[in-house]
Amino acid sequence: MNGFDQYLKKHSKNGEAIKEDYASSDLLRTICTRAYNRAVDDEKKLNRHYEAFSSQTYGETSYERLRSIIEEIEITESDFFVDLGSGVGQLVVQMAGGSKVKRACGIEIADLPSDFAKKLEIEFKGMMKWFGRKYRPFTIHHGDFLDEKFRSLIVNEATIIFINNYAFQADLESKIKSKLLSELKHGTRIISTKPYAPANKKNQITQRTLGDLSSILDVVEFKKIANPCSWTSNDVPYYLHVINRVKLAKFFEEKNDPALRLERSGTPSSNSSSFSREQSRVPSRNGTSNHKNDMVQRLEENGIKL
Ligand SMILES: C[S@@+](CC[C@H](N)C(=O)[O-])C[C@H]1O[C@@H](n2cnc3c(N)ncnc32)[C@H](O)[C@@H]1O
Repeated sequence: MNGFDQYLKKHSKNGEAIKEDYASSDLLRTICTRAYNRAVDDEKKLNRHYEAFSSQTYGETSYERLRSIIEEIEITESDFFVDLGSGVGQLVVQMAGGSKVKRACGIEIADLPSDFAKKLEIEFKGMMKWFGRKYRPFTIHHGDFLDEKFRSLIVNEATIIFINNYAFQADLESKIKSKLLSELKHGTRIISTKPYAPANKKNQITQRTLGDLSSILDVVEFKKIANPCSWTSNDVPYYLHVINRVKLAKFFEEKNDPALRLERSGTPSSNSSSFSREQSRVPSRNGTSNHKNDMVQRLEENGIKL
């Protein structure tokens, strides 16, 4: 008897699923694994499909890796999770079934994993229904995450962005940084396998690093776990970044330039080294993100792109 059948025997009475709200982590793992195995009926084809050492090289984040990330960062009903390069979409369904997110979404450019993702969605929904478990709304798009049509979703709506960029080439990384990451709102969290700025450092701003992404990022490494991903048995670190625009403002304050002094009322503390929800909360999440305040405008006039 396999794990799924054992689970079914233990948790079903006369074939009837027990009604509970959301799936436990164990049940969700069973459902996600089963849905994956049924959807991805030819794993070799999936691996063969990908050209090695290109930005479309395939590799998956494990269930346990994402589980541990979900436990480490505080996720609330106002969070919107986006996986840039979502492969077969297994992280999107896991987020929808195993976290409090308001919404989860994935964007995948390649045809074959996108086809598998459609099947995975059907299998996942079918099994969640069978077990009578709820999940949050989710969508898996087939397309290029750099496409203009996804821009607002990523830049204005997402609050947690996942990028398994381990194999992404330099040209793609450079576009991700300039077109997407540098435009994100204060407080947006980015999870990646290669860091976008030195990790576990405060990334103090200097005149030289002013225009770098590091000047608006705080970065820490997640707790390590065994077997975080599918493509190697070696350790692959995962990093949490938080967009922190306050330190940029503080830099100018400290330069004592009255023209660039920040009106601090209502802004979060800038000397935090932890990543709690409160400290990384976006001051402008209530829809005022389009409104450029004086400070932002002046920074831009001085060549600093926010
Ligand atoms: C390493 S896989 C990660 C899958 C999944 N996010 C995970 O961590 O398990 C990276 C995926 O990014 C996709 N990708 C690369 N460039 C992309 C782009 N511009 N738009 C959408 N997807 C892209 C690749 O096709 C590949 O499926």
